[in-house]
Amino acid sequence: MKLPYAESFRIKMVEHIHRSTKKERLKWIKEANYNLFSLKSDHVFIDLLTDSGTGAMSDKQWSEMMIGDESYAGATSYYKLKNAIKDLLGFEYFLPTHQGRAAENVLFSVLVKEGNIVPGNSHFDTTKGHIEFRKARAVDCTIDEAFDTTIQHPFKGNVDINKLEKVLIDNGDKVPFIIMTVTNNTAGGQPVSLQNLRDVRALADKYGKKVVFDSARFAENAYFIKTREEGCADMSIKEIVEQMFVNADAMTMSAKKDAIVNMGGFIGIRDEKLFQDASVFNIVFEGFITYGGMSGRDMNALAQGLYEGTEYAVLENRIEQVAFLGRKLVEYGVPVQEPFGGHAIFIDAKRFLPNLAKEEYIAQTLAVELFIEGGVRGVEIGTLLADRDPDTRLDRFPKLELVRLAVPRRTYTNNHMEYVAAAMGNVYARRNEIKRGFKIIKEAPIMRHFTVELDRL
Ligand code: F0G
Repeated sequence: MKLPYAESFRIKMVEHIHRSTKKERLKWIKEANYNLFSLKSDHVFIDLLTDSGTGAMSDKQWSEMMIGDESYAGATSYYKLKNAIKDLLGFEYFLPTHQGRAAENVLFSVLVKEGNIVPGNSHFDTTKGHIEFRKARAVDCTIDEAFDTTIQHPFKGNVDINKLEKVLIDNGDKVPFIIMTVTNNTAGGQPVSLQNLRDVRALADKYGKKVVFDSARFAENAYFIKTREEGCADMSIKEIVEQMFVNADAMTMSAKKDAIVNMGGFIGIRDEKLFQDASVFNIVFEGFITYGGMSGRDMNALAQGLYEGTEYAVLENRIEQVAFLGRKLVEYGVPVQEPFGGHAIFIDAKRFLPNLAKEEYIAQTLAVELFIEGGVRGVEIGTLLADRDPDTRLDRFPKLELVRLAVPRRTYTNNHMEYVAAAMGNVYARRNEIKRGFKIIKEAPIMRHFTVELDRL
């Protein structure tokens, strides 16, 4: 018999969590105006709001924290991180930043100008935000298959090369670079194939463009390449990572994901001139170039986390745990994005609650019900997140209404996953009793989902 996977770690320290009652949860969610971001975290039993900054560091990472060098300039911690980035990702130059969006802010301050167009696979919200803030436009060229949760495709994160080439033909002069998000979070934590990354590189070379990787979950992407892409099964994760990044001129990184730290990020750059230009913005926005918003101890833990996060066993545990949750949900009949994503399971709320009108915030309704049912916090990726059209001020209705259940790394056990699936299964069993959604009482002009106040219809 083939032995099943088992965690390649054991637990040295635990954090207690409070299992609440339904009565308590009904009160708390009402007080939070039905916004899951407004809940106190100790009112949440199992928190699947995000996998960002919520992972458990290893004993080695914690020991690295103790030997961080807090010198303002030239700290050994900076060099430790610089060496890890060169060694694993191949970038000659790097700039530390306090998190991923800060890396975007610094790099885009050099590269993005008013009127530009930045094509790629689905841009993450902050990436899009930093592009639009500079009065430029993000064009999503992801393959169509990504927008149908029932289609099986091994690399739903891929860019459609024809769509991308059309943007370059029509508006090539306005394109400063192509951005590839690995994995594609917005499309459901879906990977990009090595072939697709190579095709994008070839197209970029043809049109003389740079390629930037948004690399938050690059190691998970490499795991999918190893397990799904023809000819890659015998490559190590580190070899695949190297093969992925040779196709990029620069990268931004939110280290809160695959580098398994609670805070941190960086930019990797090949070109000396671009590094020098970006350094100016790094100093202004983040901090001097050898710490850029991070403590020495944080850079140490990050360097160690990069090595751990690219270990096959660590990735297998992680991705198999997410798939375990996915399979359990499917057993209960819950409609989910397939294949399962690397960091999260995405529930298709329109298929779950087909009788709710799109104006009733379908995915938010489902996320609230899951919290009431079991104290599990997911997040809406639907109409609230999509915000209003800046011109018409009308709600934008995205193709998919999703509830994301993001699994923090090395934090919860499979029993927790069983519990989450059972809670969602219970909501599914009573789905026909959920007849009404929500209306907005109060909202901010942009990024409304964080603070929006809702009431039942
Ligand atoms: N790029 C991707 C693909 C991301 O998923 C995120 C963050 C960022 C950039 C920004 O990084 O948070 O360190 O500033 N994603 C989190 C999430 C917030 O929940 O998916 P950051």
